[in-house]
Amino acid sequence: MSADQGRFSGKVALVTGASRGIGAEIAKKLAAGGAAFIGVHYANNRDAALKVVDEIQALGSKAVALQAELTDGISAVNKLWASFEEAVRSEVGAVQLDILINNAGIAPSSPFEETSLETFEDVINVNVKAPYFLTQLASPHIRDNGRIINISTGFTRVAGPMHTLYSASKGAIETLSLALAPHFASRNITVNAVRPGTTDTEMNKDWLVIPEAYAQAASVSAFGRIGTTEEVADVVVFVASEEARWVTGQYIDATGGSQL
Ligand SMILES: NC(=O)c1ccc[n+]([C@@H]2O[C@H](COP(=O)([O-])OP(=O)(O)OC[C@H]3O[C@@H](n4cnc5c(N)ncnc54)[C@H](OP(=O)(O)O)[C@@H]3O)[C@@H](O)[C@H]2O)c1
Repeated sequence: MSADQGRFSGKVALVTGASRGIGAEIAKKLAAGGAAFIGVHYANNRDAALKVVDEIQALGSKAVALQAELTDGISAVNKLWASFEEAVRSEVGAVQLDILINNAGIAPSSPFEETSLETFEDVINVNVKAPYFLTQLASPHIRDNGRIINISTGFTRVAGPMHTLYSASKGAIETLSLALAPHFASRNITVNAVRPGTTDTEMNKDWLVIPEAYAQAASVSAFGRIGTTEEVADVVVFVASEEARWVTGQYIDATGGSQL
């Protein structure tokens, strides 16, 4: 048995935005570690979510795809939790959760003066309201020694002038992670944020194909390149693991040493 096998044995996880990118990689790594059941949330890409579910099942874990368009606000959060509850009750026999990864996010780019109220509401719904209320709904069901991990961004440490709204939304979930850590500590549940830097996902597909833009983004990292989903997910699953039980209320930088 490798060191990773059995690391998450018996654990129940819910990963938002797990149909692709960083979330899909996290979900598959939890499965590789032996998680019992994983909720794979998605918004529109049902086929991609079902492919992740298949990959998880091939690793020996149970999984279900859960649809919710989080720009719809609280009704979508309630729907996501209700469908997770139903699935976990049926597959595991009880409504329980060990690892909640609030990963789904949107990152529209625009000059500050051009940010519309509609975009503001979409970003706040997906990046702040959904993690806040999903965590609230999950809270009574998170077992002792559980993990809550909010996926943030390096733009909370380094200014992102074309991403003012996105940066502010991620600042909110970082502060939320800090504020919630004492609340959950009585149950030995940790709450942390992980900050990826520019990572090779569909979120960046429109501009990473431009050689000058790619080179500029790569030059920001101390390692001189863009990160992979695997490199970010490895940090997240460490925070989700037993080995990270003494880390809570922290913002963990996984930007490849951006702008040190
Ligand atoms: N990639 C980066 O460079 C980078 C850098 C820093 C931080 N991050 C953060 O890392 C997290 C994951 O990013 P990623 O690059 O892996 O993203 P991605 O490849 O764009 O995937 C986004 C995931 O979130 C879901 N999603 C998108 N819009 C949604 C909505 N309106 N409602 C519900 N779910 C929605 C998508 O579902 P569908 O497939 O159904 O659309 C997909 O599963 C995000 O929180 C992002 O802010 C990313």
